[in-house]
Amino acid sequence: MKRIISLLSAGILLSSISLLAQTQKLRCEYLENPLGIDQTAPRFAWEFRAKQNPVAVKIWVNTDSLALVKGRNNTWVSANISSSQQLATYAGKPLQSFQKYYWKLVDKNNQTLSAIASFEMGMLQPSDWKGAWITDGQGKEEKNAPYFRKAFEAKKEIVSARAYIAVGGLYELSINGQRVGNHRLDPMYTRFDRRTLYVTYDVTMHLQHGKNAIGVLLGNGWYNHQSTAVWFFDKAQWRNRPTFCLDVRITYKDGSVETISSGKDWKTSESPVTFNSIYTAEHYDARLEKTGWNLPNYDDKTWKDVIYRAAPSTHIVAQALHPIRHTNEILSKNLKTFSKQNYVFDLGENISGVSSITVKGNAGTVIRLKHGERLLPDGHVDQSNIDVHYRPTDDKDPFQTDIFILSGKGEETFTPKFNYKGFQYVEVNSSEPIELVQNSIKGYFMHSDVPAIGKITSSNPTLNKIWAATNRSYLSNLFGYPTDCPQREKNGWTGDAHIASETGLYNFDGITIYEKWLADHRDEQQPNGVLPSIIPTGGWGYEWGNGPDWTSTIAIIPWNIYLFYGDSKLLKDSYEPIKRYVDHITDISPNGLCTWGLGDWVPVKSKTPVELTSTAYYFVDVTILAKAAKLLGNQSDYLKYSALAEKIKKAFNQKYLNEQTGIYGAGVQTELSVPLYWGLVPEALKSKVAKNLADRVAQDNYHLDVGLLGTKAILNALSENGYASVAYKVASQESYPSWGWWIVNGATSLYENWPIDAKSDISMNHIMFGEIGAWLYKGLAGIFPDEQGAGFKSIILKPNFVEGLATFSADFESPRGLIHSEWEQKGNTVIYKIVVPSNASAKVQLPEGYKVKSINQKAISTPQVGLLSAGEYTLLIEK
Ligand code: BGC
Repeated sequence: MKRIISLLSAGILLSSISLLAQTQKLRCEYLENPLGIDQTAPRFAWEFRAKQNPVAVKIWVNTDSLALVKGRNNTWVSANISSSQQLATYAGKPLQSFQKYYWKLVDKNNQTLSAIASFEMGMLQPSDWKGAWITDGQGKEEKNAPYFRKAFEAKKEIVSARAYIAVGGLYELSINGQRVGNHRLDPMYTRFDRRTLYVTYDVTMHLQHGKNAIGVLLGNGWYNHQSTAVWFFDKAQWRNRPTFCLDVRITYKDGSVETISSGKDWKTSESPVTFNSIYTAEHYDARLEKTGWNLPNYDDKTWKDVIYRAAPSTHIVAQALHPIRHTNEILSKNLKTFSKQNYVFDLGENISGVSSITVKGNAGTVIRLKHGERLLPDGHVDQSNIDVHYRPTDDKDPFQTDIFILSGKGEETFTPKFNYKGFQYVEVNSSEPIELVQNSIKGYFMHSDVPAIGKITSSNPTLNKIWAATNRSYLSNLFGYPTDCPQREKNGWTGDAHIASETGLYNFDGITIYEKWLADHRDEQQPNGVLPSIIPTGGWGYEWGNGPDWTSTIAIIPWNIYLFYGDSKLLKDSYEPIKRYVDHITDISPNGLCTWGLGDWVPVKSKTPVELTSTAYYFVDVTILAKAAKLLGNQSDYLKYSALAEKIKKAFNQKYLNEQTGIYGAGVQTELSVPLYWGLVPEALKSKVAKNLADRVAQDNYHLDVGLLGTKAILNALSENGYASVAYKVASQESYPSWGWWIVNGATSLYENWPIDAKSDISMNHIMFGEIGAWLYKGLAGIFPDEQGAGFKSIILKPNFVEGLATFSADFESPRGLIHSEWEQKGNTVIYKIVVPSNASAKVQLPEGYKVKSINQKAISTPQVGLLSAGEYTLLIEK
C-alpha cells in the first residue's frame, strides 16, 4: 500500500513537472543521474522537446533539491548558455567527495525548464578510501575464485548507503545474500597497472538496521589471465591474484556516517568457482557451494584470514560508463539429442555472452558445455575456426567449454560469472546420463549496454538483415572497449574499431565507452607517440600491426565523437597524444609517404600497396590534427599541420595518381575509393576518379573487391560522388562476395572473411567489415553530421533515391533529438519525409536531376530553400 501511494504521488509530481519541462533527457557525463563520478568539472547535456523553441538556459546546481525549486542560497548558477548550445560544463565551487548534487535548467528569468536531475560524486582524493586492498594470500596460479566476507552490525537507522568497490580482476558483490546491481564483468578492462576502476552502488535497500553481511567473490578477468594464447596475457606485467578495496559508507538518520571497509577483519575461503578465465571458460563445482556464505549468521570459523596487498595502480578512477549486462535472454531454437550424455543446442543466432543450463542429476556428474559458432557435418560443435590462437599447456582448460559438476541436490542452474564467449551452439557432454529438453539451455547476449539510438527499415529484407547483423556484431564486440571478435581473441584491435566507429555512433549512444577507451590509449602510448595495435595490451602489439591504418583510432575516434556529440573534450584530451603520434609518423616518413601498416586486411582478391593506404591514414590524422588545432585555438599548429597535410597529399598523388587517366595505382577498388573517400583527390579530378571507380565496380560485376580499409571507403566513395545506385547494387548483392552472401547463407552476424568456407581468418562475429551499418544512414538516408555545427546542430541531409529500392527509412536519435529521413519512390515520383529535431537545422541537398514539387510542413519557423528548421516535412519530389 505504502508503495502504491508513493508511486502515485511520484506520478503526480512527474506530471506536474512535465507540464513545465521544455527540456528532457538530462544527462551528466552522458549518464542519467550517475553515482560516484569523479570528474571535477562534469558535463551536462539536455534536449529540447520536439516543437519547443530553444531558449538560452542557465544551469542551477545545489546539494539541496528543494533549494532548486526556489533557487535559495548556495545554488551555483551558470552563465547564460546560448540557446544554440545543449552542452555545458560545471564551473562552480569545487565539488565534494560523496556529495549528491541536484541540477536543473532555467531560462533567463529563472523559470524552470526541466525536471530536477542529479549526480553524485565518488572519491575525489585517494585519502577518501578507508578500506585496504586485500586478497587471500594465494599465488596467481591458484585456480579457485576466492570468497570474502564480513559481518557487522548497523546500530542505528540507515537513511542511505553506498558501496564503492575497486578491483584488480572481476567481482560480484552481495549484501545479506543478495547480489548488488546487475552489471557483468565489472570493472571494465584497463591497463591495470596504470588505471584501475571502481564502481559505486546505492546499497541503501540492501542493508538493514541490525545484523548485516557483505560478500565478495573475485574473478580473474584480464587481471590474472591464466589461459595461454599467442598474445601472452599470461605474462602481462600487472598480472596477479585478484584483489579488491571496498568501502560501504552508511549515513544514519542522526546524520552520522560509518564506513565498513575491506581490512584484516574480513575472512576468506574457497568458492565453488574452481576455475575462471575471461578468455576460455568457467568451471563450477556445485558440491563446494557454501549456502548462506554471504548472510550475517553464517559460521565462518573455518575461513582464513586475508592479507594486505598493494593497490594494482596508484590511479583509482570512477567507472563512468554504460556497464556490461545480460541484455537479452535467448531460448534455444533447436535441440539435437545424440544420446542421454550428448546433446547439441542451437540458439538460432550468433552472440557474445554466456549460456545457462538447468539440470538435475547425481552428485559428481561432470557436465561439459562446449560453445562454438558452427557445426561439423555430423552435427557436433566445431571450434576449428576460433581456437587457432589458443596455446593450452594441458587439457584442463578446454576452449570455450564450461565445466559444471552437479551437487545432486535437485534442479540446479549454472551460469558463468567471469567469462563470456562467442557462440550459437552449445554441445553438452555429461559423464552420466541426464535428461535435457530444449529449454534446459538458454543464452544471454552480453555487451556494454549502450542505449540504441538508430533504426533502419527498407523494402529490401536482406538489407534489413545486414543492418541487424551489423548491430549484433557491433554489440558483440563492445565490452568496455571495442573488440575484434568475442571468441578467438577478444582483443581491442584498433583498426577494426575506427572502421566501425561511425556504425557505432549512428546506432548506439556509445560516447562513454569511447571516452574510456581513449583513456586506455593514453595509458598505452609510448613517449615517442607509438601505440600498440591492441588496446589495452599486456605488452603485445607495439611491434606488429600498429601503423596508422590501425592506430589512427587516436585521431579518428575523438574527431567522430566531436562530430556526433558536438563535444570537444575528448579531442582536447587527445590533442597532445595525436600530435605525438603524427610527429612520430612524420619522423619515419620524411618524404610524406608512409609504409608502416598492415594494408587492406583480408581482401577479396586484389592487393593494394600498404604505402597507399597507410599514407592515406597518415593524411587523415594530420588533417584531423589541423582541424582540432583550429577548433582549440592553436593557430601555429593549425598552419603547421595544414601545410603538412598538403605535403602528404602532393607526395601521395605524385606517386599514385595518373593525372591523365584519373587512375590510382593499378586502379583496383581500394586504390580508387580510399583517396576519394578520404579527400586526397585533387578537386578537378574527382569526377574522373569516381567514374573510374564506378567502371571498375561494373567490371567486377558490381561485387566487392576490397579488404578492411576498402570497405570503409567503397560505398561512400561511390554514393558521395554521384554513384549511389552503384553503391546500393554492391551493398545489396546476395552472391559472393558480399554482405548479403553471408545473410542468405544464414548469418546473423558479420564474418571476418568473404568466403563462407575460408580456411583462415574465419571468425563468424567480426565487426571489421561493419561500415555498411553507417553507410545506410549516410549513403541512403543521407544523414551526416556537419562540421559547421557539430553534434547535429547543423544536419546535412543528402538522401539518395537509388535504383532498385522502393522504400527506405532511417531514425537517428541525435543529441538534439530524432532525425528522420524516409523516402518512397514510385516511377519518377518520390515522397520524402523528414523530421528535423528542435534546435537544429538541416541543409537539404537532393540528388542531381530531382526537383521539389510541393512541400507539406509543420515547421516551427518558415523554412528557407535548402535549409529546414526544426519540424516535420513531407516533400513531393520529381525526377
Ligand atoms: C583480428 C583482426 C585484426 C587483425 C590485425 C586479427 O587477428 O581478428 O580483426 O584487425 O588481426 O591484423
